[in-house]
Amino acid sequence: MSHYLCGMSKEIVVSGIRSTGHLHLGNYFGAIQNYIKMQEGYDCYFFVADYHSLTTHPDPKDLKQNVFRVVAENIASGLDPEKVALYAQSDVPEIPELYLMLNMMAYVGELEKVPTFKEKVRSQPENVNAGLLTYPVLMAADILIHRAVKVPVGKDQEQHLEMARNFAHRFNTRYGEFFPEPQVFRFNADAVKIMSLDGVGKMSKSENVNATIYLSDDDDTIKKKIMKAKTDAGPTEPNAEMPDYIQNLFLLMQLTSKPETTDTFRNAFNSCNIRYGDMKKQLAEDMAAFVRPIREHASELQKDETKIRAILKAGAEKARASASITIEGARKRIGINYYIPNA
Ligand code: TYM
Repeated sequence: MSHYLCGMSKEIVVSGIRSTGHLHLGNYFGAIQNYIKMQEGYDCYFFVADYHSLTTHPDPKDLKQNVFRVVAENIASGLDPEKVALYAQSDVPEIPELYLMLNMMAYVGELEKVPTFKEKVRSQPENVNAGLLTYPVLMAADILIHRAVKVPVGKDQEQHLEMARNFAHRFNTRYGEFFPEPQVFRFNADAVKIMSLDGVGKMSKSENVNATIYLSDDDDTIKKKIMKAKTDAGPTEPNAEMPDYIQNLFLLMQLTSKPETTDTFRNAFNSCNIRYGDMKKQLAEDMAAFVRPIREHASELQKDETKIRAILKAGAEKARASASITIEGARKRIGINYYIPNA
C-alpha cells in the first residue's frame, strides 16, 4: 500500500542537491545534517538534481562523476540508502512530466523576477537559457511529485520553496485539492548559512573554491584554508558586535569543536583578548578531524561504482513507486485519462 494511503504513514520529505561539484560544509550543515536526522522518523526522498545541473552544460563525463560523488558523499555523511530513497532526478521520468504540467501554471513575469535567475542573467549573459528561467518550476515538480510536506534546505532555497507552494496552490485551485503546500524544515529555528572564508558570499561547489571547505579536502588543505580565513585586528571594546566573517568562524567552531572550546574563544572575544591565529589553529584541527572520516569513507565508496549504481537503481524504484501515483492523480484531474472508460 502506498505511503499516504496507509493510516500509520510518516510525513513525506523531499530534498535535492545539484551535481555541480564537490560537496562542502554549507551543503553539509545547511542540508545533509538535517537529512540524516530526518531519515529515522520520516518518509524521505533525497535526490541528485542532475537535470538542474544541465543549465551550465557540463561535460558528460564530469556529470556522471559528479552524480556518483554526491551519492558517495551523502552516504559517507551518514545517509542510509536502506532507510531513504536516494536517487537521480533523471531516473524518475514522472518529474519532467509534472514539470511540464506545472509550467502551464507558472508565469514568465514571476519567473523573471526570481533573484537567483536575475543573478544568473548578470553573471552569465551568454547563457540565459529557458532551463534557468524555469528552474523553480522543475524544483517544484521535484517536491510535489511525492506530495511532500517538509523540505530541508538552506536559507538560499527559501524563495524557491515559496514558489513551489504557489504552484501547488494554483493547481489545487484549478483542479481541486491535490498537492499539500510544502514547508521549509530544519531542526533548529535558525537557518544555517555558511559564508565563504574570505568573507565574500557563501561557500559554493563551483565558486570561492579556495575559501570553501569541501568534504573531499585533505587535512592539510583544510588547515591552509582556515589559516587564511579573513580576520582583523580584533575587537576594541568589550562585548563588541562580531563582523560577519568572524561570526562565521565561530559558527563553524560551534558546529565542529567541543562547546567548552567555543566558549573559551567567545569569552576571549568579549574581553578583547582573542588571538585569531590560535582560534584558527584550533578550528583547523577540529575541522580536519571532523571531515576526515567522511572524506575517507566517500573515497572508498566512489571506487565501487557497481555499488553506487545499485543504490541509484533501488532508489529510483522507490521514487517511481511514489511518483507514478502522483502523476496518475494529476493526469486524471487535468482530464488526461483517455483510456479509462467513464473516468
Ligand atoms: P544546492 O545544490 O545549491 O545545495 C544543496 C543544499 O545545500 C544548501 N546550501 C547551503 N546551506 C548553507 N550554507 C551554504 N553556503 C550553502 N550552500 C548550499 C542548499 O540550501 C541546499 O539545501 N535548487 C537546489 C537543489 C534542488 C532542490 C530541489 C532542493 C533541486 N530541486 C527540491 C530541495 C527540493 C540547489 O541548487 O541546491
